[in-house]
Amino acid sequence: MSLLSRKISELQERTAKAVQGGGASAIAKQIAMGKLPARERINQLLDPGSFYEYDLFIEHEARGFGMEGKDLAGDGVVIGTGTINGKPVAIYAQDFTVAGGSLGMMHARKITKIMDYALRMRIPLIGINDSGGARIQEGVNSLAGYGEIFFRNTMASGVIPQLSVILGPCAGGAVYSPALTDYVFVVDKISKMFITGPEVIKSVLGEEIDMEALGGARVHSEITGNAHFFANSEAECFTQIKTLLDYIPAHNEARCEKGKVAEPDKKFKIDKIVPVDPTKPYDVRDVIRAVTDSSEFFEVQEMWAANIVIGYGRINGRTVGFVANQPLVLAGVLDCDSSDKAARFIRYCDAFEIPIVTLEDMPGYLPGVDQEHAGVIRHGAKLLYAYSEATVPKVTVILRKAYGGGYIAMNSRHLRADFVFAWPTAEIAVMGPEGAANIIFRKEIMEAEDPDAMRKQKVEEYKQKFANPYVAAAKGYIDSVIEPVDTRKFLIHSLEVSLNKEVKRPKKKHGIPPF
Ligand code: HXC
Repeated sequence: MSLLSRKISELQERTAKAVQGGGASAIAKQIAMGKLPARERINQLLDPGSFYEYDLFIEHEARGFGMEGKDLAGDGVVIGTGTINGKPVAIYAQDFTVAGGSLGMMHARKITKIMDYALRMRIPLIGINDSGGARIQEGVNSLAGYGEIFFRNTMASGVIPQLSVILGPCAGGAVYSPALTDYVFVVDKISKMFITGPEVIKSVLGEEIDMEALGGARVHSEITGNAHFFANSEAECFTQIKTLLDYIPAHNEARCEKGKVAEPDKKFKIDKIVPVDPTKPYDVRDVIRAVTDSSEFFEVQEMWAANIVIGYGRINGRTVGFVANQPLVLAGVLDCDSSDKAARFIRYCDAFEIPIVTLEDMPGYLPGVDQEHAGVIRHGAKLLYAYSEATVPKVTVILRKAYGGGYIAMNSRHLRADFVFAWPTAEIAVMGPEGAANIIFRKEIMEAEDPDAMRKQKVEEYKQKFANPYVAAAKGYIDSVIEPVDTRKFLIHSLEVSLNKEVKRPKKKHGIPPF
């Protein structure tokens, strides 16, 4: 055997050993839990044969607790680059079969190396999390590793897309990396995210709670809003990632490529979706599908704060971010969670130069002590801030109700919408006709022989006067009153004329948004 052949077989032997991760029995345990091994995950997500792995032969530096000489293959994390839909990405996947995917110093160094590559090459970063958290035996070195990751997450924020995929436990401080990234993907029964686990809760609070109820995929998709995409299997989750990456640009100075233009599906009849009666609900996603290419809409955070709908579609071949009140849920009111949800999405679209289309139909902010005490003033302000700050093309269509603070907040002209269109069914007023009539005609109603009849008459008078788009149109607050069937046409044109939009803002280090 030649020297070169010997060297090559040594490399092959070392590689074959390193890619075994925690060994056959740990891998079997992983699979029995319904989870794929780390490299298998990467290979399923990336284009076939496109993955190149780095730092395969990294060795851990844990000392004490019997760690010396322990073989932790690749220190429990796989890193590399490859392509998805033909476009480059950087990726890391924690390997739970090696010391529970726990994060030691060298493990963290591998992750930060691939994060640095992603930022330098300006390509999306995908992190697959499956870990018991800070490697307890490595003490402060593992904490330092997390700090280095969090710092890089923050530096990369708004420059490259950062996607976190939770495919196992993500425990303790480890949760803050996903929380700092743009999109969090979870899988039913597999993802578990929590700061303090069941053991700690039991010892401190004496309460028994299982991991699923504490921080399972549904909890983060429906209650906390930490997750953006919920899937029933790892395969479904990978499809969601591919779809998202198809909509968004690779970095903040790239533009989404113009794709094939396709008309919406004729089954979405835009003039039949929205009932004229403002008290009747409908699914605003049907309106979105009536204006997007091929009627495709990729919803974000579908299961949380469903009174507002956010997500991506394409209009005339280009990606657009939609923000739409959802009359199906709580009449589409704005509240703490829906304001947070929309505000963050708007900031994402703005950072990555994705135009925003807002569809408005809501009766205002949700009243009540609960909301006031939950901080609806602070949370609601985030929405005003996000729309005001955004310099991407911003188009609003008022479908029906645009009352009070909600009228201003939902990308009004006053927050610098570029185009505001209203359907003839739009009602733009300080508040709903019933409430308004009760306040301004209170004396007449009280003193009337038949107060109910008088109330009805006054409500009707108010509606005639204010519950229409023409008062706002007369002041130029809306640009055009349009027929519903012309909505796509107006959207295409307004987005096309905004392609070279440029806005100058006062010089500052950064604003102080109501975080
Ligand atoms: C070292 C760990 C580990 C950890 C798991 N392991 N977590 N090793 N440090 N944090 C090891 C286990 O010892 C075990 O090793 C192997 O990984 C598999 O773990 P199991 O417990 O057998 O698996 P499972 O029953 O599936 O339970 C998974 C788990 C549990 C729920 C994640 O391991 C767990 O609760 N781990 C601790 C989670 C936690 O509280 N982490 C927070 C750390 S503090 P062997 O050799 O037996 O196979 C923290 C603060 C960071 O993260 C702050 C940053 C700002």
